[in-house]
Amino acid sequence: MKRFLSVLFLTLLSHLFLFATQSLGKLDFLRCEYLVTPLGVDVPTPRFSWRLPAHLNKQQAYQVIVGTDSVAVANGTGGAWDSGKVLSSEVLTVYAGKAMQPYTRYYWKVSVWDDANNNYTSAVSHFETGLMGMHNWKGSWISDTHDYRLKPAAYFRKAFDAGRKIRQARAYIAVAGLYELSINGTRVGDHRLDPAYTRFDRRTLYLTHDITQLLQQGDNAVGVLLGNGWYNHQSTAVWNFDQAPWRGRPKFCMDIRIVYEDGKEEFVSTGSDWKTSLSPVIFNSIYTAEHYDARKEQAGWNTPGFDDEKWKNAACTSAPSNLIVSQQMHPVRDVKQLNPVKMTKLSDTDYLFDFGQNMSGVSELIVTGKPGTEIRLKHAERIGEDGKVDMSNIDYHYRPTDDSDPFQTDIFILSGKGEESFRARFNYKGFQYVEVLSNEPIELTTNSLKAYFMHSDVPVVGKVTSSSELLNKIWEATNRSYLSNLFGYPTDCPQREKNGWTGDAHIAIETALYNYDGITVYEKWLADHQDEQAPNGVLPAIIPTGGWGYHWGNGVDWTSTIAIIPWNIYLFYGDKHLLESVYDNIKRYVDYLNYTYPSGITDWGLGDWIPIKARSSKELTSSIYYYVDTDILAKAAKLLNKQRDYEKYSALATKIKNSINVRFLDEQKGIYCSGHQTELSTPLYWNIVPEHMKELVAKNLAERVEKDQSMDVGLLGSKAILNALSENGYADLAYKLASKDTYPSWGWWIKNGATTLFENWRTDGYRDISLNHIMFGEISAWYYKALGGLFPDASAPGFKHIILKPNFVTGLTSFEANHISPYGEIVSSWNKNRNKVQYTVTIPSNTSASLYLDDAYIVKSKEIKSQILSAQREEGSIKLTPGTYHFEIRIK
Ligand code: BGC
Repeated sequence: MKRFLSVLFLTLLSHLFLFATQSLGKLDFLRCEYLVTPLGVDVPTPRFSWRLPAHLNKQQAYQVIVGTDSVAVANGTGGAWDSGKVLSSEVLTVYAGKAMQPYTRYYWKVSVWDDANNNYTSAVSHFETGLMGMHNWKGSWISDTHDYRLKPAAYFRKAFDAGRKIRQARAYIAVAGLYELSINGTRVGDHRLDPAYTRFDRRTLYLTHDITQLLQQGDNAVGVLLGNGWYNHQSTAVWNFDQAPWRGRPKFCMDIRIVYEDGKEEFVSTGSDWKTSLSPVIFNSIYTAEHYDARKEQAGWNTPGFDDEKWKNAACTSAPSNLIVSQQMHPVRDVKQLNPVKMTKLSDTDYLFDFGQNMSGVSELIVTGKPGTEIRLKHAERIGEDGKVDMSNIDYHYRPTDDSDPFQTDIFILSGKGEESFRARFNYKGFQYVEVLSNEPIELTTNSLKAYFMHSDVPVVGKVTSSSELLNKIWEATNRSYLSNLFGYPTDCPQREKNGWTGDAHIAIETALYNYDGITVYEKWLADHQDEQAPNGVLPAIIPTGGWGYHWGNGVDWTSTIAIIPWNIYLFYGDKHLLESVYDNIKRYVDYLNYTYPSGITDWGLGDWIPIKARSSKELTSSIYYYVDTDILAKAAKLLNKQRDYEKYSALATKIKNSINVRFLDEQKGIYCSGHQTELSTPLYWNIVPEHMKELVAKNLAERVEKDQSMDVGLLGSKAILNALSENGYADLAYKLASKDTYPSWGWWIKNGATTLFENWRTDGYRDISLNHIMFGEISAWYYKALGGLFPDASAPGFKHIILKPNFVTGLTSFEANHISPYGEIVSSWNKNRNKVQYTVTIPSNTSASLYLDDAYIVKSKEIKSQILSAQREEGSIKLTPGTYHFEIRIK
């Protein structure tokens, strides 16, 4: 419990972290590869970034110093790298020093100069390299050699003597499957479900742990429990993960590197001298649940004195892939503990717990009972008419072959030794309710069950608040769905599938990045894309995949992730790295499209998925994504100085755009196809509409919406509709749609008790009715963009230049959006009293902003002289330098 509290505290700290550091006003928040003091850095040229003091106006220059001696670095001598004084306002740089050594702690600091030549120097930070190359592994891959159909999970252990006083120790562990590592009986770290899911036969991840404090001079024991994860998918469902080409009994490889006080190093590594036995985890499936038989516990199995005489030796085996790389990501954690809001005793053997909100994660049962008592914990999102949990909305694609693996149902068999507890280690579920069913009477109270909301623990970088309770609730529900679908890769839903559906992820990318610091997860996921891309450029619909999805669902409207995600990372972080590393993959993808659809028109896709009434042209929406990808490729080519590619792909992009307009636009009427909402909003949003036609198309869209009296879009339209309206003069109408609470709308879900976003606009659909999908989550990004007015600028990305276009919409009296960009916190906040608006905006150090206000607004500002103000307004926008501004605005 104590440990959990400290985990929770640390996690809370990490969540508050970005907001808190901001206010300190120091040169700080030093990060290496977007992580604070990471271990196991494996890239030869890591990236360094920092945050400037809040009062600093402009950074003129920076200097980064890196070395292995902290005192020398503090004194300004690098040893590994001294960037010299670089005249640049960037807060991100790439290491360009001596080749990095493995297992080494590097210290670094940054100095900056402002425009008055004042110098600021950060405190010394550090990071540590990992193996820096596969040739450095000492251990062998080992397994217990059981057939992969065997259900119980395996324990591995090794006892060893650490002869002298230990200065430092690290464990490097690569696993095909999942693991829990313990040293002398204590679990190492607070991560869950490591390593993250990858295409195991192409790229396997290893983790680095600091175990200095857990080891002792003298006798030690290391224990490893291996789970199946996606490596050994024993459950059967429509995506055939049980037939994945990589499938096997979990295995791992570990090097423990000990450095003694006398400077000598020693490795304790995996090999056939390790011992193995089956554990009480008698079944574990990432997809369904976990079963645990406490009668099979072996007390002290991971401590030094344990008698492992009866255990057999592990066997050396092949590595799962030829690429073992360090996992450098915000990990999955039990981020939040929840207590039930209600418990209902249905009978002596049946209890129902309600946690008051939907989430991804696990439950933990604390119970006392007779030995052999079998308790089932059924996790679900809803309750049936009989008052019991109802899984019919989430077990739709599950294809069990017998009844031994019930869906989202943990099974806990009691040892009978007093109070005992169970929490799944190698599984998570999507749920709000847990029904606890026992084959013997048991006594439970509301304290008997807890829930843990698990997800990739990405720091919060955004916040929205407003005078509308509904808006606030939709924003919160979007965050819950986003986080419920982030497990080292973005997923569609945490219950029915847990699949890395491409389309869902690119539609949600702006919502992701306005709210969370997700770069580490997306960089990893784009590497998953590289692993899965076929030689001809085609990508599967779900990533990672064991082969499913190359035949269905992987059209251009879904797999455009390859271009859209890196582009947005560039916009939000101002970092070219990801775009550069996937440039050839985007190109291969676009070349495939160009080869297959030379006319510029394609109908390859799923179209406007989960529509309401209208059926929009798939040819139109797919061709638009074909354009979007080609346009991103052209822009990336320009950025990366690939002039010939730039010319080639910008010409192709223009050709596709023209083909779309020739084919689908009725210039006379100003409509595309049949003029459905998706058909008008997607060309507007994605910049297909010729400049001179924009006004008319937007007017037609507005009329269509008024006529339909509600929203009528599926997934692709949901990305575009609100933006297309608000960016073309119809912000009030967009807000009207966004704030509706009748079917079909986001508010309709909230009115029906939603705490997360649903998969279907209907609340009574018969399928596609997960209650925790991020797919329709663009609305959260729209709050930042349309109401807060915050847009990144592609020509000065990372919010180096901020485009501000707030809309003080009818129906809302106050609104505030905060976003912590790489340069610091941006605040856009307004309060309205009839036709008078107080607008406050904060522009961080080292950036600038252009504020665009409709001509009808009369503007007065405390900080800007009225002549300057009107002169700037004449030019179209008001130019802002760092600082906080208060405007008084009159609206019509
Ligand atoms: C998933 C969606 C996905 C869709 C594509 C569904 O089963 O849950 O989110 O995008 O399939 O067909």
